[in-house]
Amino acid sequence: MIRRASCQSDNTFSVATDTAIVRRNAQNHDARYGKDKFHLSIWYDEPANLMSDIVEHGGPSPLWLCPGKGNAVTQKGNVMSKSLIQLLNTTYPLIQAPMAGVSTPALAAAVSEAGALGSLGLASASLDQAASMIREVQSLTRKPVNVNFFCHQPTVADPVANQAWLDHLRPMFDEFGATPPSELRDIYRPFPGYAQMLELVLETRPAVVSFHFGLPSQEYIDALKNAGIVLMATATTPAEARQIETAGIDVLVAQGYEAGGHRGVFDPENGDAQFGTFALVHMLAKQSSLPVVAAGGIMDGDAIKAALALGASGVQCGTAFVLCPESAANDAYRQALQSERAYDTRVTITLSGRAARGLRNRLYIDEPSAARPATPGYSMTYDAAKALNAVASARGNYDFAAQWAGQAAALARPMSAAQMVQTLADEAGW
Ligand SMILES: Cc1cc2nc3c(=O)[nH]c(=O)nc-3n(C[C@H](O)[C@H](O)[C@H](O)COP(=O)(O)O)c2cc1C
Repeated sequence: MIRRASCQSDNTFSVATDTAIVRRNAQNHDARYGKDKFHLSIWYDEPANLMSDIVEHGGPSPLWLCPGKGNAVTQKGNVMSKSLIQLLNTTYPLIQAPMAGVSTPALAAAVSEAGALGSLGLASASLDQAASMIREVQSLTRKPVNVNFFCHQPTVADPVANQAWLDHLRPMFDEFGATPPSELRDIYRPFPGYAQMLELVLETRPAVVSFHFGLPSQEYIDALKNAGIVLMATATTPAEARQIETAGIDVLVAQGYEAGGHRGVFDPENGDAQFGTFALVHMLAKQSSLPVVAAGGIMDGDAIKAALALGASGVQCGTAFVLCPESAANDAYRQALQSERAYDTRVTITLSGRAARGLRNRLYIDEPSAARPATPGYSMTYDAAKALNAVASARGNYDFAAQWAGQAAALARPMSAAQMVQTLADEAGW
């Protein structure tokens, strides 16, 4: 166990373990000075170096070793992934999930200022909105921030299917004295092929960019990498993880079936393997050379420790940040998350046209049947649900609202983003 650590003015440092003092030169450590605490991490490039310290000096317990990933042992004696926090340039291996429509520049900035990685979900943003959100977050913090895009195949409009879906929803519009829209739009423009959005990103240069629902072209990936941007992508299966690794992405976000929001599945036509976070993270950590970030059902330090014990280099939490005052969640969403409804999350395609997990509502009828025709596809189904929610919520009814949340939603805690980051870090023992 590490008992004491100190750093000298000549940049050498010493660490007292139970049985000996370990000395290293500056290249092997990273010292950070927090507001009220001194934090020293020792990097072990090779597990063998840590092992030799254990043998020679009775140093940290090998139980703290995350095989093959490179480790940092904190002053408290806990392991943090070297590769992830170095790559992301954060204090903690913790990412606030990008949440289109819910994450805000204020949330992302507060998270990044607190030492984790704040994210903006820009999938639903127009070019102008994306520009103003990126500029706003950059005016609020100089710390790294992640900017996230969707990479889905655009839906080919099928007017017959669209009309059948609108007819299906008509009685629900009737309840509010409203009529369904006359046509449905594909409201989420994918990042692949969106040259102006790529230009905006290259111009504003967020530290990190992440992708959901697949990947953009190699040309886009190379352009972002050449600009020095760290890239992350969601994998829901080992096969998707291999594609991500082959494309030269830096970090794998392993999204389990527990996760709130949209399933990051590359090709929904192939079905969804529905790997849980536990199994997926464990497999990817063993099979991939990339740092693996666990996402899905992680709400507190116990879950973070479990993910790291399975080989994750860090975690990405979405639902845990929805109750932060800095999020864009409305009162109805906040109340629902803190009610019994939080125990009833389901995955459905009927809200948006792609599988997503949220608090169950009146649109959650999963199997096509006489009671429900096939959905028009992503994101036209979402256009219809948003129109229905707009008329219903204007009359105080939230039965049709998309309230995305993960399986552990009932563990959500209302607190500021900075408090949430510090609480998770403290609970994780960082
Ligand atoms: C409200 C909400 C919105 C989300 N939107 C996005 C998004 O825009 N882009 C994305 O990559 N992931 C999105 N996700 C999924 C998260 O990246 C992550 O996989 C998930 O939040 C992890 O599960 P948890 O919510 O149980 O922490 C969203 C999740 C939530 C809860």
